[in-house]
Amino acid sequence: VPQIVTTVAELRHRITALRQDESKIGLVPTMGALHAGHLSLVREIQKHVDVVVVSIFVNPTQFAPNEDFDRYPRALMADAEKLGATGETDLVFAPSVGEMYPPGFATKLDVGGPALGLESDSRPHFFAGVATVVSKLLLAAMPDVAMFGEKDYQQLLVIRRLVADLGLGVQILGAPIIRERDGLAMSSRNAYLSDDERKIAGQLNVVLQSLIADLHDGRPIAEIEEAGKQALLAAGFNKVDYLTVRDAETLEPLSSLDRPARLLTAATVGRTRLIDNMAV
Ligand code: PAJ
Repeated sequence: VPQIVTTVAELRHRITALRQDESKIGLVPTMGALHAGHLSLVREIQKHVDVVVVSIFVNPTQFAPNEDFDRYPRALMADAEKLGATGETDLVFAPSVGEMYPPGFATKLDVGGPALGLESDSRPHFFAGVATVVSKLLLAAMPDVAMFGEKDYQQLLVIRRLVADLGLGVQILGAPIIRERDGLAMSSRNAYLSDDERKIAGQLNVVLQSLIADLHDGRPIAEIEEAGKQALLAAGFNKVDYLTVRDAETLEPLSSLDRPARLLTAATVGRTRLIDNMAV
């Protein structure tokens, strides 16, 4: 089981000791309740660096008051064991809320560009919270490389923009989405689904895949977006926040497939909001 440190001071101290002359440090930020998707990031980053640090912190500033911060799954010891079994993690950083947000905390990042629209329409505080905590984690660990999943595709673009804009000098890598057998993207929030909801949830990726095929057949984008929303509602989702084809780099709306594109969706089944996306 990898060593767990809980303060920024201890993290810096340990990383300084681990950092040999030419060695590279990698950071994988997570909120814990680790699954095979998270572990794939750990395995992937290991190919690029000598020392792997995984952070586990359920970040309160990216949750709105009505969201699931209190019931978000927490399993630090089980997570540490999973990382130990995966075998690539040198250090776990698991700070308290007070360590990351000391009394009087009053600074947060204001993000634009790829942060506008999509997730922000439903969760207006989300990317400011993500950007603030990821900046703090990068400044605490000072890694050479940090790895994020394409599962949260908009988040990956927001972090790329953030790191470029603040000149943080960290290489940001993206890793493919790891899925369950029926195509459902792995997520810590899948644990909230009842058996019936879980079956409906599996249709999210099935619908996306068939839309990708329709896009390749040349069916107009606007028609596909509308058909996709109807298909999700028919499959049992109670709400579709968005289902849209966007420019894969800027997330701007697209009217034709003249550039690399990404199909992105967010939909709710029962009380659980799921997101997914695919390259077009
Ligand atoms: P969390 O949801 O725990 O995800 C941590 C990382 O794992 C993110 O980069 C996410 O995209 C990636 N990930 C999650 N499920 C995945 C899957 N099925 N396949 C591939 N990668 C997957 O995202 C966050 O935490 C937070 O917003 C964080 C960046 C840690 C800031 O608090």
